[in-house]
Amino acid sequence: MKSKLQNLKDEILEKINEIKSEADVKEIELRYFSRKGEISEIMHSLKDLSLELRKEFGVLANKTKKELEEAFSKVKNNFSNDENCENLDITLPGVAMKRGHLHPITIIQREVEDLFTGLGFSIISGPELESDYFNFTALNMPPLHPARDMQDTFYVTNGKDDNEELDMVMRTHTSPVQIRAMQKYGAPLKAIIPGRCFRNEATDARHEHTFYQFEGLMVGENINFSNLKNLLEIVGIKLFGPETKLRMRPKFFPFVEPGNNGEYTCFLCNGKGCKVCKQTGWLEIVGAGLIHPNVLRAGGIDPEKYSGLAFGFGLTRLAMLKYGVNDTRLFNSGDLKFLQQF
Ligand code: DAH
Repeated sequence: MKSKLQNLKDEILEKINEIKSEADVKEIELRYFSRKGEISEIMHSLKDLSLELRKEFGVLANKTKKELEEAFSKVKNNFSNDENCENLDITLPGVAMKRGHLHPITIIQREVEDLFTGLGFSIISGPELESDYFNFTALNMPPLHPARDMQDTFYVTNGKDDNEELDMVMRTHTSPVQIRAMQKYGAPLKAIIPGRCFRNEATDARHEHTFYQFEGLMVGENINFSNLKNLLEIVGIKLFGPETKLRMRPKFFPFVEPGNNGEYTCFLCNGKGCKVCKQTGWLEIVGAGLIHPNVLRAGGIDPEKYSGLAFGFGLTRLAMLKYGVNDTRLFNSGDLKFLQQF
């Protein structure tokens, strides 16, 4: 009897030590401590003993039972859901919550916003689902204009009308917000427009259907090419360091005249030539130009009185360069292994 009691005690204590969950608590309670549990069974069996033995073991059995109940109740309380639980130790250190942080594109966007607000620019935004008119026509790309082919996108038909201009598109660039801004605020105007854009791309490491740009525009009297060059030089120096040089090469964009591609000396090799700048020493970063008179008119601004400059940076491209990311698809992947590095 004595060893039976001792064995049961050892077994129960071991089980109590191994408790890891509320489910374990329930199981032990049922198996050992319930009315039909193994402890009650042993207590019951005392009645079959002689009076003498019953006296001897009765005391021991009762003592063991009490010890086991105490040990069990201590552990049990730790796993209890009861909010009023008296044994709740509020001084125990809590489980630290993991903190999130800004997405790398957002980090670069804020940097750019800081830079331009410092230069007196406002920050504005426009719709991602845009009308065909604002995205193309008002930017000097009427229906069937060949330049539309450079920016294939996702068309959303209105389902009611055959008139293409009433259709909507996922905007292919942030440029349509130039028109919206001019219509709303008139001249003079200095603003940047960061935002998400979409194109129907065969995706690969350098192309993605969803990406980020930021547009800039400045409208006023006598805004000229020197203003544009000077502004882009300042931006280059702020973004890539004091040694950064700018070169501007002619390029056709329907909404500017003259249009050009702005290239900065590669900040990785200081213009000497490396893998990232394809050994040219220059990074193609920004499309820019003087706003076409048709675009000013579409914005409700008189091109005889005002002129303007505009530029468009690839925000995703800036983030890729700055952080040395070699696959643009990572930004939209939601992959924590990638995101946690920033
Ligand atoms: N919207 C053009 C694109 O996505 C970029 C651009 C080029 C914007 C020239 C401009 C500009 O404002 O003047 O390819």
